[in-house]
Amino acid sequence: MTDQYERSAEFVDAMLAPHWTILGPALAEALRGAPGPAVDVGAGGGHGTRAIAQALPEAEIFAVEPSPGLRSVLMARVYESPELRDRVTVLPSGLLQAALPPRLGALVAMNVIGHFDPADRHTIWKLLAERLLPGGRAVLNLQPPAEPTAVPQTRFSELRIGRRRYEGWGRAEPAGPGLITWHMTYRAIQDGEPDEQVEVSYTWWVLGQDQLKAEVIEHGLQAAPIGPADLGLWLITRAV
Ligand SMILES: C[S@@+](CC[C@H](N)C(=O)[O-])C[C@H]1O[C@@H](n2cnc3c(N)ncnc32)[C@H](O)[C@@H]1O
Repeated sequence: MTDQYERSAEFVDAMLAPHWTILGPALAEALRGAPGPAVDVGAGGGHGTRAIAQALPEAEIFAVEPSPGLRSVLMARVYESPELRDRVTVLPSGLLQAALPPRLGALVAMNVIGHFDPADRHTIWKLLAERLLPGGRAVLNLQPPAEPTAVPQTRFSELRIGRRRYEGWGRAEPAGPGLITWHMTYRAIQDGEPDEQVEVSYTWWVLGQDQLKAEVIEHGLQAAPIGPADLGLWLITRAV
């Protein structure tokens, strides 16, 4: 599969880090009491993997990450922690190609659901319906826009490492039914002067709350919002 993060991998993990200081505790709360094993879908550099490990201290974790660049960050983060190294398995493929355990306690999909088209989403809901253990759940976040509309250029991240200041910018435009294209710009500024600029574009399947609820019901599942509303977190469990 194409690595949409090939050129941005060096920036993505650092730029997501501030968001994870808020997202991590909310995810931990949503996972409280879930059984293992857990799957981190599109684990990136492993901010979520670490949060899952803290929330579920007994669970084995499968961190699925197809991008070699981001997987390098993930491997380093997992290896540096004896606790993560012991119970996190890094799987180098897309979710739908990954060899997962036959029964799952938790599936976490943070900042990733838009990488799956509607047919792939149905495959994920089917996988959950077939494999979720009693008490098991999936937690994902829905990110705006919920419809294929334009998003003006917005700075979503700014941080400093040593002498360099980094900025992450993004804008989106409609790319077809249910689809937008994100255009991302990553900048490094040193001593006040722009020094490096990386531009990448990738497509993203938009998903709104009502669509999510309707899709999972078809598979005998239910979706409900959980945690602070601005994080867009949703909990998916078997319908009762
Ligand atoms: C925006 S990053 C989010 C990373 C991480 N979940 C986080 O929030 O810090 C999206 C991730 O999804 C991964 N991804 C893209 N397509 C995927 C697929 N089909 N299966 C699993 N992961 C995928 C990308 O490689 C990337 O690491």
